[in-house]
Amino acid sequence: MKELIKELVESYGPAGFENEITTKISELVKDYVDEVYTDKLGNLIAHKKGTGKKIMFSAHADEIGVVVTFIDKNGFLRFSNVGGLNPLTLLGNRVRFQNGTIGVIGKEKGELKDLAIDKMYIDIGAESEKEAKEKVSIGDFAIIHREFADLGNRVIGKSMDDRIGCVVLIEALRRLNHSEHDLYFVFSAQEEVGLRGARTAAYDIDPDLGIALDVTLTGDTPKAHTMAVELGKGAAIKVKDASVITHPKVKDLLIKLAEDNKIDYQLEVLEFGGTDAGAIHLTKTGVPSGAISIPCRYVHTASEMVDVRDVENCVKLVLALVQDPISEI
Ligand code: CO
Ligand code: ZN
Repeated sequence: MKELIKELVESYGPAGFENEITTKISELVKDYVDEVYTDKLGNLIAHKKGTGKKIMFSAHADEIGVVVTFIDKNGFLRFSNVGGLNPLTLLGNRVRFQNGTIGVIGKEKGELKDLAIDKMYIDIGAESEKEAKEKVSIGDFAIIHREFADLGNRVIGKSMDDRIGCVVLIEALRRLNHSEHDLYFVFSAQEEVGLRGARTAAYDIDPDLGIALDVTLTGDTPKAHTMAVELGKGAAIKVKDASVITHPKVKDLLIKLAEDNKIDYQLEVLEFGGTDAGAIHLTKTGVPSGAISIPCRYVHTASEMVDVRDVENCVKLVLALVQDPISEI
């Protein structure tokens, strides 16, 4: 599974430009489903037909990044954020454009506490505006550039948010023997800029049940914001975040399945942020929805850390769900 994690987290796919990553995922899942297609907004949808409940799983394929807003006469690039970025975590980090161009992020003089993205720039090593414009154009998107690292049970990479959710769905598909349900595995577009892909995918699929797979924050590092989620303590069953309150029947079913199948789990109350479940549950007349979250440290930095045992427990919980009759929803 670590090979798969490495391949996905080292791929390029900022919000709006998911084609490269979804093409890879399509190759990885096509033998396990009845059809795979990409919709108009760039969501990759893998459909395994069944006669039971229509279930939509969603893990977002896109990642945070930056977009070029201006190129100055000395060849430095000014940029804006694509998704939530903390300027402090950008300083000294590298970015990579789709054409392979690498840049380093620097800042103007000034106090670190006043640091903002409009006081920062990207240096691609160009010595003039002309040289910079040969490599990069206004409007080009770049991702944070960082390699995968295997620390044992814990692994680090950029874009664990949410390639690790994609890994959970891919692994579940590979291991799935039988489910009576009509299963849609959505690798959604543009989550990081406002749950956009999941909204249109859910409208089209019109599911009976929606489950997002995404990372959640943890409270287990020195003087962290108080939160009950810890790395290595199991799949996190979402109770609420800023985008959704998990439907009580969905929450209770996930807890029951985890307990019946001896899957390690923990309850997640996330005070900030949202997931695709936020978009799915408001579709048409409403869809009972929830989320299975992968605990993750340093979310939205170049080095997001997850525990592979949690990933394994999330895969098991997805498999337990699709094998359950789901008669209560
Ligand atoms: Co995110
Ligand atoms: Zn995410």
